[in-house]
Amino acid sequence: MEKNNLQFLLNDKLIEIDFLKEDFLPSTTVLNYLRMQPGFRGTKEGCAEGDCGACTVVLAEVQHGNLIYKTVDSCLLFLASIHGKQLITVEHLAEINDNKIKLHPVQQAMVEHHGSQCGYCTPGFVMSMFGMYKNASATDSEALTDAMAGNLCRCTGYKPIAEAAQACCKNPEADKFNLQQPGTIKKLTQISAYQSTLEIFTPKQTYLLPSRLDETLGFRVKYPEAVIINGATDTAIRQNKLHEFLPCILDLSAVEEIKQQKEGSTFFSLGAGTTLEQFKQFVKTNFPGLMPMLKVFASLQIRNVATIGGNLSTASPIGDLIPLFFALKAKVKLSSRTGNRLIPVEEYITGYRKTCLLQDEILEAVQIPKPEKDILFITEKVSTRRDLDISTVSSTLRLRLNKENFIEEIAIIYGGMASQVKRAVTAETYLHGKQWCIEEVERASKLISEDFTPISDARSGAEYREAAAKNLLLKLYLKSVDTKQGMSL
Ligand SMILES: Cc1cc2nc3c(=O)[nH]c(=O)nc-3n(C[C@H](O)[C@H](O)[C@H](O)COP(=O)(O)OP(=O)(O)OC[C@H]3O[C@@H](n4cnc5c(N)ncnc54)[C@H](O)[C@@H]3O)c2cc1C
Ligand code: FES
Ligand code: FES
Repeated sequence: MEKNNLQFLLNDKLIEIDFLKEDFLPSTTVLNYLRMQPGFRGTKEGCAEGDCGACTVVLAEVQHGNLIYKTVDSCLLFLASIHGKQLITVEHLAEINDNKIKLHPVQQAMVEHHGSQCGYCTPGFVMSMFGMYKNASATDSEALTDAMAGNLCRCTGYKPIAEAAQACCKNPEADKFNLQQPGTIKKLTQISAYQSTLEIFTPKQTYLLPSRLDETLGFRVKYPEAVIINGATDTAIRQNKLHEFLPCILDLSAVEEIKQQKEGSTFFSLGAGTTLEQFKQFVKTNFPGLMPMLKVFASLQIRNVATIGGNLSTASPIGDLIPLFFALKAKVKLSSRTGNRLIPVEEYITGYRKTCLLQDEILEAVQIPKPEKDILFITEKVSTRRDLDISTVSSTLRLRLNKENFIEEIAIIYGGMASQVKRAVTAETYLHGKQWCIEEVERASKLISEDFTPISDARSGAEYREAAAKNLLLKLYLKSVDTKQGMSL
């Protein structure tokens, strides 16, 4: 083994890559790498932007001595980021003994339920089902949608696929992966023990994959031009679709310190590397009123790698977490070698896709005050498609009422209505001190046009956005009434 060579398991085979000897780069996507390897064409490219799931593979990694299996879109995954992990492809699911093929239970179920239709989408569906099989806790329709919403079939043959998934994931039995688990854990642990940090230099590209925070902050000083990535679900699109070349990349996905979630006496501290899937569980437990946004956030393949730090740092006007963090009065911890600073999320975002991050800093963690029982959080997202679509307009409410139902505190935050996520200050000012009732909310909704001048773009016209924003406020009101009455949302 050579230092700074990429090492991972491709199914059960140890792969070592010296990029100086290859004609692909560290940021080559896992999908493109697989398609270059003989015998690995099962993984397909449908869109190369995380929308179709035809490229779904499963990554297994060691966490606290166990193997964790995650479905991911290989079209959005940079090859160097899988150092020390097992990449499981559709070719590896079946067992072959004495030239006899024994299908994996998920494959067998696809056959028995006539779920396999074309060779294009089927491998992706099978890998998502395999991910569900290895993590199965429920097989109700919500769990199924969650596991499969990232896979598209252009002929809409979903019913037999859903039936197959339900049948095989109901009572998953031990499979060959369980038997191989101790050996796999040993091999992956050896890779990390030999080298957990990578510094890859090729004539065209530098790829830095630190495993510790202090190394990361050192790299920030040494390579200020490096593009930071974590889940890369946003950045990979720049490479795949905008054909942007990234000469120097600082990949934070292996930094343990920024993956941790801690609970203090008055706040939670979530590492910037907290994945959207982990954040979803956090929200479910602590701020259930915000769950509607997480339920329709991208797909499981994306949520398994996309991070809260990445979402905030895109500073996108339609970044779905940004309104939630505004409502939660969250703060970001920005760290550099010389120290750190804690500032409100509202100050972190300074403009259209702009933050106040300095060149030697990274976003290390997000601090969220613990929930107070008299504060209500409600959120709604409008998008063209329900699942796996970005927002056209979104709205999030933070509300405190007194016993007489008068408004003591209110924040109404909109995504998609301006060049950055913004509060509807005029409507808020009008409502403050008023009774929380439909008549006042209707009056306040008319003031939304004083706060925003939305634009028209490919997703919708300005007129639609304005109407949607006004109606969203009414919907937030109706949901607040349901919540107060204890009705399920
Ligand atoms: C198909 C698809 C669906 C999507 N659906 C949604 C959706 O429903 N809602 C939504 O909001 N977004 C969505 N996204 C966008 C994207 O997935 C999210 O914004 C995601 O949270 C980005 O996180 P990441 O870790 O992958 O970011 P990356 O691509 O790794 O990084 C994004 C940006 O943040 C910076 N960055 C990352 N981490 C740090 C850090 N620790 N410190 C400083 N800077 C950092 C990077 O330099 C880069 O500029 C979708 C994307 C795709 C491809
Ligand atoms: S190719 Fe469509 S999600 Fe990757
Ligand atoms: S069966 Fe493959 S796209 Fe519909």
